[in-house]
Amino acid sequence: MVAAGHHRVTTSTSTTADQIRVLIVDDIPETRDHLAKLLGFEGDIEGVGSAASGAEALEQAGRLQPDVVLMDINMPDMDGITATERLSSEVPTASVVMMSVQGEADYLRRSMLAGAREFLVKPFSSDELTASIRQVYAREREKASRFVSAAGPAASTRTTRDADPGSIVALFSPKGGVGRTTVAVNMAIAAATELGKKVVLVDGSFQFGDVGVLMNLNPKNKSIADLVPELEAGGEPESLDTFVINHSAGVGVLLAPPSPEMAELITPGGIKRVLERLRETNDLVIVDCSSYFNDTTLAILDVADVILTMLTLEITSIKNMRQFLEVADQLGYEPGKLRLVLNRADSTLGIRVSDVEHSIGRKVDHSIVSDGRSVVYALNRGVPFFLSNREAQVSQDILRLAVSVAGEAKEPVVDDARKTAKNKSLFAWR
Ligand SMILES: Nc1ncnc2c1ncn2[C@@H]1O[C@H](COP(=O)(O)OP(=O)(O)OP(=O)(O)O)[C@@H](O)[C@H]1O
Ligand SMILES: [Mg+2]
Repeated sequence: MVAAGHHRVTTSTSTTADQIRVLIVDDIPETRDHLAKLLGFEGDIEGVGSAASGAEALEQAGRLQPDVVLMDINMPDMDGITATERLSSEVPTASVVMMSVQGEADYLRRSMLAGAREFLVKPFSSDELTASIRQVYAREREKASRFVSAAGPAASTRTTRDADPGSIVALFSPKGGVGRTTVAVNMAIAAATELGKKVVLVDGSFQFGDVGVLMNLNPKNKSIADLVPELEAGGEPESLDTFVINHSAGVGVLLAPPSPEMAELITPGGIKRVLERLRETNDLVIVDCSSYFNDTTLAILDVADVILTMLTLEITSIKNMRQFLEVADQLGYEPGKLRLVLNRADSTLGIRVSDVEHSIGRKVDHSIVSDGRSVVYALNRGVPFFLSNREAQVSQDILRLAVSVAGEAKEPVVDDARKTAKNKSLFAWR
């Protein structure tokens, strides 16, 4: 499947559906010709154009809609890194393969940050070149089909559940106590009651999970500690229903183990399989991660389609975030996989949002206001504030976040579900 918006512009050259369309960008004419010749030998790759500068590359990419752009890093006027940065926002369907001469290894990092998908060091063989192009293209297609089926607005047109896998959204922060659990719980409820999504919330804080407390669920319920060993033993439980608890708001919940030492039962492979299984039967799998960066957390972040990375306006939170962004970069996460969520955005105490953005070198994608009254009242009653105080600004902010990861409402008939949830009677979510 090809992403929406990936429609091809018809050009004079005829193209078969599966050909990878490549735009060559290099300021040296001989290099451009040489690359075009190499690509000419490949049946599944087609050179659709060539550009001699960054500016020309942007213009041509917009017109030709290539799948892959082979980009030289050193060019007069606009360099390859700047051109790549602009391409990622102007022609996001084009994946950049950066080309550079040896000894410019520090460019690798900057290229990846700018949005390049691969890095080729000159001189490279024709095999290396074509392998990179095919790999980048395959990865992008896989991602595009998953994104369209799961997180994009197309999700709202989905009719049958088992047709496409749902998306996995991890809530992570490199510092504790910033509001991950609060946001995870209320976002899950917002997506289920307002957007009509089938949602499961996984407590990925295996040692000290408190999703169950916020949702007022009986800790004697089954938890992920019962499910993982069953999956690991090679068994495939018929259904996950016995492990997933139904909350009255229509959200499924997979609780953390009842005691901290049981966290050891959860292996990276185990949690990955659980999440993959859950996405088969849900639109949205929300994972409340621990702030401890270990191999199970890493496994969750790896399989996630989107990582909502949370921070607050505190120096420690900002410092940890900067470090985490560097790690994420080294892990090779695409820039779009991470979204920054600023919680308690208005409780400034001297730090402004622009200071934060400047310090971490990234824009905040979503903000959630501080509302101690609603949040603590909800916590003590065990009724999430999205249910009891839906009109509050904090609820509205969380709904907006939910829409951004889950897409708009499927049908406008969700009022009944909300009423039912408010009355705390059981709402059949399966
Ligand atoms: N938007 C908000 N406005 C006011 N208080 C908030 C907000 N979000 C979270 N809080 C409060 O901040 C505290 C921490 O929230 P929460 O437990 O959700 O964070 P966490 O990141 O999951 O923490 P932990 O590291 O313990 O898992 C709680 O007391 C919660 O009520
Ligand atoms: Mg928590």
